[in-house]
Amino acid sequence: MNTKNPNNQNVIKEFSRFSKDYNSYNQIQAQVAKQLIDKLPRDHYTAIADIGCGTGALYDRLINSEISFERLMALDASEQMLLLHPRSKKVITQYFDFNKSSSFASIKDKFDLVLSSSALQWSKDLDWTISQLAHIGDNFYGAIFTSNTFKTIHETASVSSPICTADDIKEAFDRSYKDTQYEIYRYKLYFDSKKELFNYIKKSGVSGGEQKLNYKQTKTLMREYPLDCLEFEVLFVEASN
Ligand SMILES: C[S@@+](CC[C@H](N)C(=O)[O-])C[C@H]1O[C@@H](n2cnc3c(N)ncnc32)[C@H](O)[C@@H]1O
Repeated sequence: MNTKNPNNQNVIKEFSRFSKDYNSYNQIQAQVAKQLIDKLPRDHYTAIADIGCGTGALYDRLINSEISFERLMALDASEQMLLLHPRSKKVITQYFDFNKSSSFASIKDKFDLVLSSSALQWSKDLDWTISQLAHIGDNFYGAIFTSNTFKTIHETASVSSPICTADDIKEAFDRSYKDTQYEIYRYKLYFDSKKELFNYIKKSGVSGGEQKLNYKQTKTLMREYPLDCLEFEVLFVEASN
C-alpha cells in the first residue's frame, strides 16, 4: 500500500512539542479511547500492549473499567509522552517506533491483547506495521483516524489528507488477520472562533505537523473555512487470528 505519511519524524516532534498540553487538547482522543475500552469483550487480560500509548488514555480508561489485567506495556516513539504516562507496578513504559523493525524485534512477549488508539494513522507503511502487530498478539482492538478527518479543511485548502482512507485501513487488516470487524464513528468538535479552531489542530497533535500551507494560504483557509466545527472520522477495528 502507498505510504500516505512520509514525514513521520514531524509527527513525533509535533507530539513531543505539545506533550504537556496534550491532555487539555485531546477531547476527541479521550472519547475514542473510552469507546475502544468499552468494546473489549473480556473482563481479564494477562498481558496488554498499548501501541502509541501517549500519556496513557487507554490505561486511564482501563483502570476505571471493570476490566482487570496483570501487566500493560505502554509503547510510544515520543519519550516526552512516555514520561507523562502513569506509572504502576503493572505498567512498563518503553520507547517503540511502529515504523521500525528494531522496535518490533525488541518485543519478546506475546500479548493476549494488542491495543492502539488514535496513533496508527501515522504509520509510514500501514500494511507493514499491521503485519508486525499480528506477530505480537492474536487479538487487536484499535481506533484509527481516517482521511475524512478534517475533510472540509482539506477540501477548502485543496489539499489531500496525509492519512489513509477507511478502505485502505480495512484492506491492510484483512491481509494480516483472519477475522476482522469494523465500525466507523464520526465526531464534530465545535469552537467559538476560527482562531480557537485552528489552534486546536496544532495543539492536539492531530495535524501531525504535516500542514505545509504558507502564511497566506493559512489566512485564506481561515477566512474561507465554512464550518464552526472540526470533523473527525475514526475506524474502530477488532481483528483476531
Ligand atoms: C494522538 S496520540 C494518541 C495517544 C493515546 N493512544 C491516546 O489515545 O490518547 C498519538 C500517539 O502516537 C505516537 N506515535 C506517533 N508516531 C509513532 C510511531 N511511529 N511509533 C510509536 N508511536 C507513535 C505519538 O507520540 C502519540 O503519543
